Amino acid sequence: MGVFDDKVAVVTGAAVGLGNTFARALAAEGASLAVCDVRDENADLADELDSPVMAVHADVSDADDVKRFIDGAIDYYGQIDILVSNAGVWRASLPTDDMDKTIDDYDVVVGTNLKGVFLCGRAVIPHMIERGSGEIINVNTDHLHTCGAPFEWDHGDAPDCPWQADGPRPTGGGPAMDLYDASKWGINGLTFGWSQALEPHNIRVNALCMGATDSYMLRSFHNFDPSPEEEASWMKAEDVARVMLELIQDGRTGENIGFAVGHPVVLPARRTNPYYIPGDPTRD
Ligand SMILES: NC(=O)c1ccc[n+]([C@@H]2O[C@H](COP(=O)([O-])OP(=O)(O)OC[C@H]3O[C@@H](n4cnc5c(N)ncnc54)[C@H](O)[C@@H]3O)[C@@H](O)[C@H]2O)c1
Repeated sequence: MGVFDDKVAVVTGAAVGLGNTFARALAAEGASLAVCDVRDENADLADELDSPVMAVHADVSDADDVKRFIDGAIDYYGQIDILVSNAGVWRASLPTDDMDKTIDDYDVVVGTNLKGVFLCGRAVIPHMIERGSGEIINVNTDHLHTCGAPFEWDHGDAPDCPWQADGPRPTGGGPAMDLYDASKWGINGLTFGWSQALEPHNIRVNALCMGATDSYMLRSFHNFDPSPEEEASWMKAEDVARVMLELIQDGRTGENIGFAVGHPVVLPARRTNPYYIPGDPTRD
C-alpha cells in the first residue's frame, strides 16, 4: 500500500532529471502517472514502472499540446489529483545579447519555465475545482534567494554573496541568466496568486526551490564530466523527491520550499509569517 494509492499525478518533463525521479517516487507510493516531455525517453517510464503510466510527447510551452495532454489524462483516468510542473530549460542570456538570439531565448526559456507552468495550471485547475481538491507543485529554483554564479561560469566581477561568505558555494543566479531567473521569479506570481485563489477550493499550491541537484541538466553544465568535488556537493534528486512527497501530504499552501547545497534536504516547519520570497533554509 502506498500513500498515493488511488491518486493520479501529472509530471511534466519526466524523461530525465528531477522530473523522472519525481515520477518514480510518486509511482512508488502508488500513484498512477500521466507524464509528458519533448524527449522520446519519456515513454520508457511506461515500460519500466509497474504502475499505470500514460506517457505523452508534449511541449509545455505549446497550449494545444498542454490541452491535449491534460484533457487526455482526465479522459484516461477520470481524475487528476497532483500536478508537478517540473519541465524546465536553462540557457545563458545577457542583457547585451543580440535581438535574434535573445528573442529565441525568451521564447524557449520563459516559454517553457513560466508559460509552461501557467498553461499546465490553467488546464488542470478547473478540473481540480470540480473535484474539490488538488495539489500543485511548481518547480522553481534557489536563485530566488542565493547569489553567485554556476561552477563553470567565470564572473570574476560578480559581487560576493552577502549572507554566506564562509558557507558552501552559493549556486545559481546572476548576470548571465536574466531570462532563466525572470522565468523562475515569475513563477512566484503564479504560486502565490493560485495558493490564495484556490485555498477555498481545497487546492494547495507550493513550489520547490532547489540548489544544484544531480540531473541531466546539471551534468550538461559540466560536459557530463564533473569533478568528484563538484559532484559530491550536489543534492540528490531522490532526496528532493522525498520532501516533495511529504509536502504533498502536509496540507500547507503558498510556500517556496528551499533546498540549498550544504544544508539538509528536509521539509522545514510551516512558516507562520511567510516571506513573499521565502525558501531560504538558512534563515529562520
Ligand atoms: N538540477 C538542478 O540543479 C536544478 C536547480 C534548480 C531548479 N531546477 C529546475 O528543476 C526542473 C528540472 O530540471 P532538471 O535539472 O531535472 O533538468 P533536466 O534537463 O535534467 O530535465 C528537464 C526535463 O524537462 C524536459 N523539457 C524541457 N523542455 C520541455 C518542454 N518545453 N516541454 C516538455 N518537457 C520539456 C526535458 O526534455 C527534460 O526531460 C527545471 O524546472 C529546472 O529549472 C533544477
